[in-house]
Amino acid sequence: MSEKPWGGRFESPTDEFVEAFNASTDIDARMYAEDIAGSKAHARMLCDRGILAQEDLNAILRGLDEIEGEIKSGEFAFTIALEDVHMNIESRLTEKIGDAGKRLHTARSRNDQVTTDTRLYLRRRSDAMVARIRLLQSVLVELADAHADTIMPGFTHLQTAQPVTFGHHLLAYVEMLERDAGRFLDARKRMNQCPLGSAALAGTTFPINRQMTAEALGFDAPTANSLDAVSDRDYIMELLAAASICAVHLSRFSEELILWMSAQFGFIDLPDAFCTGSSIMPQKKNPDMPELVRGKSGRIIGGLIAILTTVKGLPLAYNKDMQEDKTAVFDAFDNLEGCLKVFADMLPGMQVNKEIMHKAASSGFATATDLADALVRAGVPFRKAHAIVGKSVAHCIHENIELHEMDAATCADIDSRLTTDMVRSLCVETCVAARNHIGGTAPDQVRIQVDTWKKRLEQL
Ligand code: ARG
Repeated sequence: MSEKPWGGRFESPTDEFVEAFNASTDIDARMYAEDIAGSKAHARMLCDRGILAQEDLNAILRGLDEIEGEIKSGEFAFTIALEDVHMNIESRLTEKIGDAGKRLHTARSRNDQVTTDTRLYLRRRSDAMVARIRLLQSVLVELADAHADTIMPGFTHLQTAQPVTFGHHLLAYVEMLERDAGRFLDARKRMNQCPLGSAALAGTTFPINRQMTAEALGFDAPTANSLDAVSDRDYIMELLAAASICAVHLSRFSEELILWMSAQFGFIDLPDAFCTGSSIMPQKKNPDMPELVRGKSGRIIGGLIAILTTVKGLPLAYNKDMQEDKTAVFDAFDNLEGCLKVFADMLPGMQVNKEIMHKAASSGFATATDLADALVRAGVPFRKAHAIVGKSVAHCIHENIELHEMDAATCADIDSRLTTDMVRSLCVETCVAARNHIGGTAPDQVRIQVDTWKKRLEQL
């Protein structure tokens, strides 16, 4: 029984299956660096407060350094009998340095330890995620710059709506990603408080210095309530919400890339290195990467639902259910990081078929709104202008012609205020160029936005 750090009161051993079922080493071993950093900060504080002797501290620091080396080199053998990363490291420390190792857990519990480690780990991963988002933004801004003048159809209801510039379309995702980065940064602010010292749930009887451990670990402050600190998993919910929203954005983008690459659209082609073929149909080139990214959003959203559901019925303070918190968020982070990477690597190699896009924007009556606007400028009320153009479109569909091909007689027949000058001046270039205001699709606006983004992303 003495093998378990908590085995004192137990008379019979843990059931063999339970030992494996209960263990979390396969999930939490990846937090070893944070666990070691947390232990060092805790030990230094204990020594500073006279709770731990200097020679014990020296042995602990040396032992922990050696253990970190062992883990990095792959020599360290994690065992499920020691449940988790915390007890594996502590037990190895005691093996190495004896009683000094056994003093490390003074004024600490795994309950404050695990959530300190998780916060530290996710803080690092979250910062890396923001960097990945910035990288993808830069790729999109470069593409937007190259395609400030490229014209494509804009859609509503997936029906041709009005011409837009491809650069403008790409910059829409730069905006979404900016809000995504903001959500990670915002969550970071709230989670950056140090739970160490909360111990099991109520605090500790030792004269600890919580400010000192918080500062040593780069937290903004110690948490203010020990019960809250050990049972709060809001930060995981917030990070999973941020990850889910970002994944949803990438999924929408994926859906567009998949549509655009179909033979029916033919707007783009993705590089071979990011596509696969079919084992039976020799002609196939499939957009697997956007499909997979679209698919990954499902499991990331699943992670958010999992953590919300896991925590919703839990009384204060720590409950073992909480061990399930890390699985979802680690999986979500690994996968979202992969999605962001694959997009940033794939998009610069995207081939854009400008002619096909232009042709698509020039058909489907994408300029109809502009014809209505021309009538409004000639004094026709907008609702009336809408009806006149609607009639014109119906006529063109019937005659299988475009709006600019209507002759004077036809125009006059539809409405006396409709002129051939109006219909002949309709062209997609004019349509996009005319939307020249903040947030509009005009090439000039795209270039202004590209400049703003380039400066902004450089400064970050
Ligand atoms: N492996 C546990 C987890 O991830 C660590 C905390 C366990 N605390 C306890 N009192 N059993 O949640």
